[in-house]
Amino acid sequence: MTPETHTGLESPRGVWWKPAHKAEKVWVAIAFVWCMVLFAMMPLWHLKGGQNPSGIRRKVDPQAFYRRTQEFIAQYKIGDDRGLPIVAPPAGSDVYLTALAFQWTPILQLEKDKEYVLHLSSLDVNHGFSLYPMNVNFQVVPGYDYGLRVKPTEAGDFRIICNEFCGIGHHIMVGRVIVVDPANAHAPVAPAVPAVPAAGGDR
Ligand code: CUA
Repeated sequence: MTPETHTGLESPRGVWWKPAHKAEKVWVAIAFVWCMVLFAMMPLWHLKGGQNPSGIRRKVDPQAFYRRTQEFIAQYKIGDDRGLPIVAPPAGSDVYLTALAFQWTPILQLEKDKEYVLHLSSLDVNHGFSLYPMNVNFQVVPGYDYGLRVKPTEAGDFRIICNEFCGIGHHIMVGRVIVVDPANAHAPVAPAVPAVPAAGGDR
């Protein structure tokens, strides 16, 4: 018997493999089809799933965004809640929300079933926009204006919770969005403030 050198760089001589078993071929076929399904789901879900928003993204100077927010507040302010302005912009308008350590400004009062473009940005560090109790989450990054087309579908008094650790006051960074139903004459406008969730949980 001639001594043979085995190296990974050269193919062994002769036909040394066995043809794939039927089960293996079936498995490869199933796996391939499933890959194609998942691949197709990405664009389909973007268009049909309604959970990957087609937002507007552009760079913005954080200070300029904050000034724009202040202008927006001055234009549509209707009240105050413990020093934070409550702003009621007209339906269809551009709405500005600035995240800064450790607050969301202003408090927004929107109308149910009306569309708005919600511009989100941060003045300082990364924050996380989490609308509670709905499961809506967005990254809020300084230097970027993230414009989301939103249409509130439910009236109520909602909380924005910061879900990105942003510093010592992260857990107290709670904002507010009020959605009023204009069809309901008894809908309270900027209703009495229920207690902000206790700053206990470390989210
Ligand atoms: Cu802002 Cu955590």
